[in-house]
Amino acid sequence: MPPKVEYASIDGEQAAQHRDELTELYTEVYAEPPYEWGQEHAELFAERFDGQRRQDGFTLVEACDQGQLVGMGFGVTLLPNTPWWQNLTTPVSKTITEEHSNRTFALVELLVRAPWRRQHVAETMHDLLLTDRVEERATLTVLPAAEAAQAAYRKWGWHRAAQKRNPLPGSPAFDVMVRKLG
Ligand SMILES: CC(C)(COP(=O)(O)OP(=O)(O)OC[C@H]1O[C@@H](n2cnc3c(N)ncnc32)[C@H](O)[C@@H]1OP(=O)(O)O)[C@@H](O)C(=O)NCCC(=O)NCCS
Repeated sequence: MPPKVEYASIDGEQAAQHRDELTELYTEVYAEPPYEWGQEHAELFAERFDGQRRQDGFTLVEACDQGQLVGMGFGVTLLPNTPWWQNLTTPVSKTITEEHSNRTFALVELLVRAPWRRQHVAETMHDLLLTDRVEERATLTVLPAAEAAQAAYRKWGWHRAAQKRNPLPGSPAFDVMVRKLG
């Protein structure tokens, strides 16, 4: 029987109240391959989240099944001076990397607990997050090895515009994806 999943959009103030639950969800999902991220990543998530929830254009969608948080997605508007397009692995046209006010919405996270996958929970959150945005386009980063996410983003009309790598030694390269809005 399909789950009775309910969706809610929350703002930065409400998100602060849910931070522990969201961090728990993040920790569980990213412990799986290909990520296999541990406590250090979870702490970094929680720390960054405190800043992200205060940023312009922040919006977060939660998916809950009988009160249990089973998925979440959130994003922010990029500022004209954003570092988003730094650390690219190859040169990319200025027409892609140039930012101006309200050009780009960055989808920062989208994840679903394993037992609730392949039931269009992510698709519903994705559509709720991207509908009626003021920005012209959206962007996100995804690991090339994240097969489910790669397949989902292809289905939803995203294409790869660049790759970038955190300057720390040994960091993996991420695909930088872009999709038109509106
Ligand atoms: C990526 C993720 C969010 C997808 O969540 P989901 O709720 O299972 O996705 P949906 O059910 O909405 O899938 C939408 C479409 O994506 C594709 N898709 C999703 N998972 C897939 C998989 N494992 N294999 C192949 N295609 C897949 C399918 O085309 C699917 O549509 P269909 O079922 O009608 O064929 C989920 O797998 C997840 O949380 N992964 C770990 C975290 C992660 O990688 N997040 C993305 C970070 S950038």
